[in-house]
Amino acid sequence: MMDDLTKRAAKDLADARYVTALTGAGISVESGIPPFRGKGGVWEKIDPSYADIDRFMRDPADVWRVLIKEMKEVVDRARPNDAHTGLAKLEEMEILKSVITQNVDGLHQMAGNTDVIEFHGTFAWQRCLACDKKVGTGEIDISEIPPRCDCGGIYRPDVIFFGEMIPPDALIRSKQIASECDVMLVMGTSAVVHPAATMPVIAKQSGAKVIEINLERTPLTDNISDYLIMGKGGEVMNRILAEWA
Ligand code: APR
Repeated sequence: MMDDLTKRAAKDLADARYVTALTGAGISVESGIPPFRGKGGVWEKIDPSYADIDRFMRDPADVWRVLIKEMKEVVDRARPNDAHTGLAKLEEMEILKSVITQNVDGLHQMAGNTDVIEFHGTFAWQRCLACDKKVGTGEIDISEIPPRCDCGGIYRPDVIFFGEMIPPDALIRSKQIASECDVMLVMGTSAVVHPAATMPVIAKQSGAKVIEINLERTPLTDNISDYLIMGKGGEVMNRILAEWA
């Protein structure tokens, strides 16, 4: 059954004219970054209100201490896994054109994908709340929390907090890609956070095949996805790529 679906996915990808991927936290789990929801997820340990922009603006030191500092340590150590390198390989094979990701860890770019739409911003950069100066996250000194710019302003990661707008360029391009692609690979997302989770719906409405890769069923399964390949992103990707060998 699983092998049939792997073969089917390899064929659908090979036959496609325009493939895109929508990825979520699950794709980086094998790189040591915990997901948000479900077992071992960040929101099991930390109240999700820590990701609200209002909470950050009210008490940036607290949000840095509880959420962002640990996130920095985890993301700093993370390297792409087989799911990321598999998507980079699909681009090299001229099958995959772009990746829409909800992740802020930069691992798709590190793996070699060149057109990555960062729907929820990026953790690679910090922005000063006072003067708007941008610095690389690796360059900021976190020995004092919250970290501060030379001007005295507090740094915030260049990510989209809950309550903030999706970057308009990312939203416009993603909608366009979703409506133009003929296969969308949806990997490692619980598909409950909108508008990211709407992209497979747009793809489906526009006639694309939607292939899900996930450890479990999601709201897209049965409704929007043509089929779900259940398993870890890296392992499934390796099996799909092996069909070309
Ligand atoms: N391989 C494939 N899928 C996996 C793996 C794995 N190794 N591990 C976990 N998953 C799946 C889970 O089954 C789940 O469906 O990945 C999904 C992770 O879901 P979430 O943690 O909700 O991540 P995501 O969908 O990216 O969350 C969306 O929510 O908190 C916000 O802004 C944050 O971008 C994030 C958004």
